[in-house]
Amino acid sequence: MINGFLNGEIPDYQMAAFLMAVYFRGMDVDETAALTKALVNSGEKVDLTAVPGVKIDKHSTGGVGDKTTLVLVPLVASAGVTVAKMSGRALGHTGGTADKLESIPGFKTEMPLNEFVEIVSKVGAALIGQSKELVPGDKKLYALRDVTATVDSIPLIASSVMSKKIAAGCDAVVLDVKVGSGAFMKDIEEARKLASLMVNLGSFFGMPTTAVLSKMDQPLGFAVGNALEVKEAISTLKGEGPEDLVELCIELGAHMLRLSGDKRDLLDIKIDLEKNFLKTGRALDKFREIVSAQGGDPTVLEDLDKLPKAEHISCVYSEKDGYVAEIDAEKIGTAAMILGAGRIKKEQPIDHSAGLIIKKKLGDKVQGGEVLVEMHSNKKETFLRAGELINTAFKIKEFKPHMPSTIIETVTQQ
Ligand code: URA
Repeated sequence: MINGFLNGEIPDYQMAAFLMAVYFRGMDVDETAALTKALVNSGEKVDLTAVPGVKIDKHSTGGVGDKTTLVLVPLVASAGVTVAKMSGRALGHTGGTADKLESIPGFKTEMPLNEFVEIVSKVGAALIGQSKELVPGDKKLYALRDVTATVDSIPLIASSVMSKKIAAGCDAVVLDVKVGSGAFMKDIEEARKLASLMVNLGSFFGMPTTAVLSKMDQPLGFAVGNALEVKEAISTLKGEGPEDLVELCIELGAHMLRLSGDKRDLLDIKIDLEKNFLKTGRALDKFREIVSAQGGDPTVLEDLDKLPKAEHISCVYSEKDGYVAEIDAEKIGTAAMILGAGRIKKEQPIDHSAGLIIKKKLGDKVQGGEVLVEMHSNKKETFLRAGELINTAFKIKEFKPHMPSTIIETVTQQ
């Protein structure tokens, strides 16, 4: 069916009917595995056998301000785990790692697969954009899902994500499944179902998979937008990262080490990663190596002013005193997109310098007149619309809200 769809034998209207049937009726694990296999077989697979050791991949279901990969990949690579990472581009309000990396002058995310494999072997990690040869069935199916309102189906999301992970050739994968206002999965039950289906698919294809459910009910860290997020990621690699981002990177990193064969307790691995790799600058050194190997200017790490900067800055202020009780991540993501940081259609250009910095996060005390968000854009005329949206994203209340941890739970193979 997938091959027929790709070669035009199966028209869009028939496939759309199938997608709608799946959307309403669901699919069981075997059916989802069959679809996943057909998607994997629709294109090439990356052959990483030339790279010695266990190769680990990481994937996020997408969130606002999610610069985790930029920190996590050099962090675990500095601890000796090989990472071959393919990343998507920004679409809608969630940013793509490939776009973020391209805000570093000279950084190449498009290269032939053999060059990618070479860098992975030499440096221990590389990050590239999703190859066009990989899983073309998913690309065509996703485009049809997008216009038939069938994206939001757990078996379709699971097969789409896992087909790309399997074709990317790593031995094991850690999935960051986001839950909350800025994520695909708005509630925990749905996120659990998605996570366990993906973990089951991992078993089915012999690829050990761990899923971590993490909160996305406010943006991760403070920065949203490509160059601004790179800047925050570099600060994090210098040991000066926001608490939620550091917590998530350490948690995901520890699971990646476990999947690579590290038998220590998760807590011991977490302490080791933070103390001996993040805080000592070893992860930063590894990032420098990756940037150089992929054609980027490594001096950016010392001089963050070399990253693109927007011409104009404008602020959104709090109208009252209290505590930040809610920040709607989706609205913040949309505001960043209005400022120029995202794209609605694949062909649209992106402004690497645009975005925003959140000055008050959940639970922070705020006084009327204090800055909630700093907006960065090259188009002054976007400030009004983005500012209005940001205003509605914040709820300021009299009492400090309950502050749950960023990490919710882990789903692993039984
Ligand atoms: N990410 C994907 O790669 N596929 C989906 O279907 C949803 C999110």
